[in-house]
Amino acid sequence: RPVVIGVDVGGTKVMAAEVAPDGEVLRVAHRATPGRRVEVALVEQALTEAVEEIAAGRRVAGVGLAAAGFVDAAGERVMFAPHLPWQGEQVRARLTERWRTPVFLDNDANCAARAETAYGSAVGADDALVITLGTGIGGAVVLDGELHRGRNGMAGEFGHMQVVPDGRECECGGHGCWEQYCSGSALVRLARARSTTAPDDWGGPAVTEAALAGDPAALEAFAEIGDWLGVGTANLVAAFDPEVVVVGGGVSAAGDLLLAPARAALARSLVGHGHRVVPPVIEASFGPEAGAVGAASLVREGLGRGVRPR
Ligand code: BGC
Ligand code: NA
Ligand code: ZN
Repeated sequence: RPVVIGVDVGGTKVMAAEVAPDGEVLRVAHRATPGRRVEVALVEQALTEAVEEIAAGRRVAGVGLAAAGFVDAAGERVMFAPHLPWQGEQVRARLTERWRTPVFLDNDANCAARAETAYGSAVGADDALVITLGTGIGGAVVLDGELHRGRNGMAGEFGHMQVVPDGRECECGGHGCWEQYCSGSALVRLARARSTTAPDDWGGPAVTEAALAGDPAALEAFAEIGDWLGVGTANLVAAFDPEVVVVGGGVSAAGDLLLAPARAALARSLVGHGHRVVPPVIEASFGPEAGAVGAASLVREGLGRGVRPR
């Protein structure tokens, strides 16, 4: 059977995965994202390498891209991406031509929501929010069992809600965006600033390991981003009143280190909290792989509908 490949194109990492029809990840390939102020060709080269590594000479049914950026409603272009060089790029058509296989495209958090509602933590939920914490914050809104897209296809950009007026500068060009206080990047920045012993190149997974081993600087960094996660989630819950809030992305691998302070802040900050059911805040079943898994379902769905790239 020809392989279906889902690729998560994040601000820091590219992960390609061969995904089975039941959502199981059969193999993965990783590349570093070359940066955001580089030639588009460099990013597309990294994607091509990761896809070729997964295909390993086999026939490919299609490739789904879960992109860390604002994808247009048609799933053709990445209009804007704070962490990637794609700005208005016809990503789907270009890569379809380059790879000679059907390519499908959506926002990374939307893809994660697709995976989590189909096979993961949000199965059976009519109304759900998905929040992914990586380089930035990704978001997806599921209403009445459907992904809510909005006028431009850009609904769910939770990471760029302004939570601190005149706050930290964001890669989107704004200031005080939520993802500046609550993301993998924020975690690493806080942990490095607090620690006197940590190496300068302390990254997300190392901070998580240190926190699990009881390192005070790493624990404080988790407490702080977890608190911000709960505060922002309270605002989203006030707006959408979902049944469940699913947290994914690389940082979610830390589990309760992140989610315990988030739940506490949600319970404290949510309007009317003594008079309503507060939704559970749970870890994404697919963790950091949710985007790639959802991108693969995008391919299966697209091919099933008989959609063929022009
Ligand atoms: C981008 C989103 C993306 C998220 C997670 C944000 O900075 O604006 O489009 O989903 O990062 O990668
Ligand atoms: Na989204
Ligand atoms: Zn921003």
